Amino acid sequence: MNRVVVAILVVATVLAAACSQPASPSSRLPAVPHDPSSFANVDAFVAKHLTLDLTADFTTKTLSGSAELIFDRRDANASEVVLDTRDLEIRKVEAAANGGAWADTAHRLDAATPAFGSALRITMPSGADRVRILYSSSPTAKGLQWLTPSQTAGKKQPFLFSQAEAIQARSFIPLQDTPAVRITYEATIRTPKDLVAVMAAEMSLPPPSPTASARLADGSGALVGSGVFRFRMPQAIPSYLIAIAIGDLTFKSIGERSGVWAEPSMVEAAAKEFEDTEQMIKTTESLYGPYRWGRCDLLVLPPSFPFGGMENPRLTFATPTVIAGDKSLVALVAHELAHSWSGNLVTNATWRDFWLNEGFTVYIERRIVEAVYGKRVADMHASIGVTDLKEARKTITVPGDRTLMPDLTGRDPDDAYTSVPYEQGVLFLKFLEAKYGRDAFDAFLRKWFDEHAFKSVTTDEFLATLKSTLMAANPTAVTDAQIQEWLHTEGIPSFAVLPTSDAFDKVDHARDAWLKGASIDTLAKTASAWSTQEWMHFIDSLPRQLSAAQLTALDHRFKLTQSQNAEIAHVWFRLAIANHYTSAYPAMERYMIRIGRRKLIVPLYRDLAATPEGLAMANKIFAKARDGYHPLAQASVAEVLKPKA
Ligand code: BES
Ligand code: ZN
Repeated sequence: MNRVVVAILVVATVLAAACSQPASPSSRLPAVPHDPSSFANVDAFVAKHLTLDLTADFTTKTLSGSAELIFDRRDANASEVVLDTRDLEIRKVEAAANGGAWADTAHRLDAATPAFGSALRITMPSGADRVRILYSSSPTAKGLQWLTPSQTAGKKQPFLFSQAEAIQARSFIPLQDTPAVRITYEATIRTPKDLVAVMAAEMSLPPPSPTASARLADGSGALVGSGVFRFRMPQAIPSYLIAIAIGDLTFKSIGERSGVWAEPSMVEAAAKEFEDTEQMIKTTESLYGPYRWGRCDLLVLPPSFPFGGMENPRLTFATPTVIAGDKSLVALVAHELAHSWSGNLVTNATWRDFWLNEGFTVYIERRIVEAVYGKRVADMHASIGVTDLKEARKTITVPGDRTLMPDLTGRDPDDAYTSVPYEQGVLFLKFLEAKYGRDAFDAFLRKWFDEHAFKSVTTDEFLATLKSTLMAANPTAVTDAQIQEWLHTEGIPSFAVLPTSDAFDKVDHARDAWLKGASIDTLAKTASAWSTQEWMHFIDSLPRQLSAAQLTALDHRFKLTQSQNAEIAHVWFRLAIANHYTSAYPAMERYMIRIGRRKLIVPLYRDLAATPEGLAMANKIFAKARDGYHPLAQASVAEVLKPKA
């Protein structure tokens, strides 16, 4: 058979499969994939627009007000719409038909489940296609963190931020909390005076203010002091990309379409650190097509932000721990920017397909790093990624979570969060790149993003596209069995194309020489030129048993315990724990109390918990740190400290 015939057969098979799906009732729209993480009855109602009017109350730690949802009715006979909620207080529910009057309607909250919260069942009169819910969030909402002034950089004003991915949007908005559904939205946010609200959306003109000088510098027209902020998200997004932050925030422009929001004392350093953002956007556009979200700003959060970064559209949320002063950790900006294609534009339809978001994003992230900072730097990142993957697999207890296709039935996706979708995902894509060639693979990706723009996709859809394009055009390069192995194996396939292994050769040499007795001054001569990644590799690759003299020598010479680089401090503290190097412990404790980024603190707790004395210390630190952590970080730490059954 020639290639054209194969291609036609493949396309025909895929079409036949697509057409044999039962047509959704009273609509020709494609069926929404079933998402085990959501209660929403998407076969009957599919949300398309959300209107929020919420007041942030820092005294009661609540967001309260109304959420109005407009649905596409898929089932004319359906008499109930089911929404996701978690710990919401529902005061009143109304329903209406397009153009009709609002009328009270019956509703019922099911009993809460720990994994998914409570289904909110709303009676829908015949013809009704919208609901309005009056509600409040709980002070312990899983998707919000309310910070006291002392937890901020400025120490004067409180702070609020949301983190909706994966399924926490339901803890501050009643909605269909599944990435299979996309909505546009508008929001009015009311804050105490003197605070600024931002959302991952277009910020539009508020009412005029007498103090024109209070107008923010970004041209958005947002005002300080009015306490009322309006936002609009005209592109359809999944619920996990809804994001809000409120605090003493100011803005500094760094490019035509980019800038940073931060507390005043942080904004200069942040603007400097992230000054390459525009170059990163242009690089990605040249590879994968236009940036489709308008502005591309960054928000620097207080140190308790539980992630490194979150790709909220138009406004990436970022941890302050990436502001190292030398741009050495800005791959994070590349990563969150890459999500503007992989994730925000083309979205995983369920959390099982999460590798479509994160594996693709790490692939693009490293392409950006390669283009902007060079291949050597990108190779170092890739090499550290493989180490992370192997390390992560050791700590995973659910075997399926070591694969790209975890079983999330009955589980909060957050409990399955690991490096596997990131690093096994990128290895899969690097394999495809190697087999088909970079040019063909880039063209494939660009087309994938164009053809699935503003859609939510499953792994099966990705495989169908792969088969009908790259695999059909070059049928011998990759086998079906290899694809299946990539998705389902618990390890790195033997045929993986691993990153160049010489990225850290020089570091390895210097390390070995020092371990064999070369002086600390000799080591320092080489090490003085090391980047953050080289330091991380050096410390991470040292034997876990060093002498007290060796640790002291390193620490005195390189001031590692005092390191202001959060990633270097992290690997150093892990080495310190392995060696009971107690001189580092006071600084480590301060670090674990100040920082709430899970990736930086959870491994420290886990390492400590390996010995009885360490566990006792970990529990003491957690007792002091807990209140300052985000609910997600609290849960993760509690999990590693809980007594083993
Ligand atoms: N989307 C993720 C963060 C996330 C994933 C939050 C799942 C909640 C659930 C974000 O893009 C991310 O991957 N952040 C990384 C940084 C990155 C450089 C790998 C992080 O926070 O560590
Ligand atoms: Zn990501």
